[in-house]
Amino acid sequence: MEGYDATTFGALNAADYDALHDPGTTDACVALIADLAPGKRLLELAIGTGRVALPLAQQGFAVTGIEASYEMIAKLREKPGSDAIAVTCGDIADVPVTGPFDHAFLVFNTLFNLQTQAAQISCFANTAAQLTPAGTFLIEAFVPRFDGFRNHQKLETKRLDMGNVWLEAVTHDPVEQVLSFQRIRISDDGIRLVPLPMLYAYPPEIDLMARLAGLQLVDRWGGWDKSPFTAESSFHISVYRKPADA
Ligand SMILES: C[S@@+](CC[C@H](N)C(=O)[O-])C[C@H]1O[C@@H](n2cnc3c(N)ncnc32)[C@H](O)[C@@H]1O
Repeated sequence: MEGYDATTFGALNAADYDALHDPGTTDACVALIADLAPGKRLLELAIGTGRVALPLAQQGFAVTGIEASYEMIAKLREKPGSDAIAVTCGDIADVPVTGPFDHAFLVFNTLFNLQTQAAQISCFANTAAQLTPAGTFLIEAFVPRFDGFRNHQKLETKRLDMGNVWLEAVTHDPVEQVLSFQRIRISDDGIRLVPLPMLYAYPPEIDLMARLAGLQLVDRWGGWDKSPFTAESSFHISVYRKPADA
């Protein structure tokens, strides 16, 4: 999507991110990461407004974050306890921080915000380089599905009341594996467009990116409650580990 870069998400969404982007899984996500992490030094790639990082910091983890958007970081900094978290403004493809970290995580489909396969591969390689031996990297991402698509496109009504209608238009490019979303909010105040392009990858492709970075898949679940990953799973939580002798 021309004109969309690593800073665009935050510029468009920071003001209402916390109100509109609650996946309803935060407590379970925090609990699983706290349980899995092989040590206390955590790295969150694309930390956003601290939805996951803040509760982990409150549990005594030493959390470092990377985030491309100053607007998202400013929202994080408004929250009590955020001064315990070190945040670097930068690109998760580059991982501009120095570890070592015991555990890194990249949740809420954000791997797919990286708009080239090269950038996704770099994200894995640069994260792996900052992990301790036996350190782990957790990814949460949706499983690409195209139910309801016709002619590679779909339009859905997400919310409707007396004063508003929120539509989501999406086009699918199966050649490039890109889903281009446009969230269209129509109200008495006018029309607001919130675009989001996503370069999706299937779980085996993600495993291959990890393998190229020297990481091995150790667990995959279909939910934060460790439910099994099945053909019906809409998303996966995958955990990769660096060899203990690396
Ligand atoms: C869906 S939000 C997730 C935020 C947070 N991890 C959470 O789960 O609530 C995606 C975040 O990724 C950030 N982002 C997108 N592309 C990025 C990039 N290339 N490098 C760093 N951050 C990026 C956005 O600014 C946004 O804060």
